[in-house]
Order: sequence, then structure tokens, then C-alpha cells
Amino acid sequence: MTGVLECDDLTVRYAGNVALSGVKISVPRGKMIGLVGANGAGKSTLVNALAGWSRGRAIVTGKVNLEGQGIDDLAPHERVTRGLTLVPEGKNIFVELTVDENLELVRPPRDTNGRHIFSIPDVFDFFPRLAERRHHRGAALSGGERQMLAVGRALLAGPRVLMLDEPSAGLAPRLISDLLSRIRLLVDRGLPVLLVEQNVKAALKVVDHLYLLERGRIVGEGSAEIMAADQRIVEAYLGTIAAGARA
Ligand SMILES: Nc1ncnc2c1ncn2[C@@H]1O[C@H](COP(=O)(O)OP(=O)(O)OP(=O)(O)O)[C@@H](O)[C@H]1O
Ligand SMILES: [Mg+2]
Repeated sequence: MTGVLECDDLTVRYAGNVALSGVKISVPRGKMIGLVGANGAGKSTLVNALAGWSRGRAIVTGKVNLEGQGIDDLAPHERVTRGLTLVPEGKNIFVELTVDENLELVRPPRDTNGRHIFSIPDVFDFFPRLAERRHHRGAALSGGERQMLAVGRALLAGPRVLMLDEPSAGLAPRLISDLLSRIRLLVDRGLPVLLVEQNVKAALKVVDHLYLLERGRIVGEGSAEIMAADQRIVEAYLGTIAAGARA
């Protein structure tokens, strides 16, 4: 089966330093794929390269396919138009505008073929908290509410595939599981998701498949079940749980 979004031999260099090397991943239809790794491993570099942009002067080589078509030559905004949507690291909202205004500003896709279409009422159904805060400005929202608003804006763009770069950053553990399980509902409705996540324990509860990135290379991958037992994952991210389970 071919993935909705795939890359092969993706390499990113910043001023001669290799930040990503020969990466091959696939996001299949209707699946939630996780990407984990230490700080500086290259997670943001990877999702940014898939979206077609970088924070600095980067040289990107390799292949990126969306629905089987090469999109390497497309600019970031053209990739968005095709339905490749990224909620980048940090808060991607207008803090001066209200929740309603933030949502109303998003232009719905012109080409709806193969896209997952969401309305503003759909966004409020997924995130009822946003409906309660609809007249508040972005600046007055909590971290979790801002993340919901950023995801809501991405949904209104009619994604074919949604990439999320650490949507749970800064949230309390209880709010992390809540946000990730809401995102899982979107996947169960058919939307493929690539999730970058620091909280590996929470990610393993919702993803179908997990990639482990170390120093710019994919060093492991497998189903959530297999990766939950992978020694590198257990030692680096689940150590206290494993110790607790033995106790
Ligand atoms: N604009 C840039 N110029 C030079 N080097 C960069 C640039 N952006 C990132 N890097 C380097 O590339 C490597 C990967 O960074 P990246 O931001 O992708 O890591 P990450 O896995 O997302 O980390 P984090 O978990 O902290 O978000 C790091 O060594 C980083 O310092
Ligand atoms: Mg990052």
C-alpha cells in the first residue's frame, strides 16, 4: 500500500551540517504515525522539509510524494493548496484576533477532491472548549486552547494529511492525553496524521506506527506495540514506567 505522504532519502543540510540524513517514512491512509526523538534529533527539520520550508538556509535533497505525485518542486503555499498541512512548533494563531476571527480567516480549499472537509461547527464539536471561548482573543487563551485553535485552523484548510509538530508542548499530562485522544478521533474519521511528540508514553497510546529519530536518522520503527517494548524507547522514554511495572 502506498502512503498518502511519503519521503525517500530526504536529507537536509544547514551550512554544511547534516540535520537529516536519508530519511524514508510513509503516512498511510487513515493512520496516525508518530515521530519521536531527543531534542535536536531533527524532528522539526523533517516535518518542515515535508512542508517545503526551513527556519534557515537549508539544502534539501530527496523525494517527497503526496498521493503518489512528486511535490519536491512545489513551494510551501502550493503544498498547503494541495492539502499538505503543518501545524508548526509553537502557536500558529493570531493573538490579537478572537477565536471566531482566527477560524473565519481560513480560506476553505477550492479543490475538495480527496480532502477532509471540516466546518467551523465541526471544529467546535471536536474542541467544545473553543466554542466556549469563541469571543476571546488568542492572547487570552491557555496553551492548550491555543493548540486546539491552531489545529482547528489547520482542519478548516481541508487537509489531505495533517502534520503536527509537538502540539502538546507545555501542556500538563492530563491535557496532553485529552488533546491526543481528540486528534485520534480525527484519524478514526479518516484523516491521516503525522505527529511529532515529546511525550512518548502518551504518543504510544494513540499512534498506529512509530518512528524513532536519532541524530537525523531513522533508527527504529514499528507498530505502537512493538515500539513500546523497544529497548531504546524503554530506556530513553519509558524507564520510570518499566521500573514501576516491575515493582
Ligand atoms: N536554521 C538552522 N540553522 C542551522 N542549524 C539548524 C537550524 N535549524 C535546526 N538546526 C539544527 O538541526 C538539528 C535538528 O534540529 P530540529 O529543530 O529539527 O530538532 P528537533 O528534533 O525538532 O528538536 P526539539 O525536540 O528540540 O524540537 C539541530 O542540531 C539544530 O541545531
Ligand atoms: Mg522540534
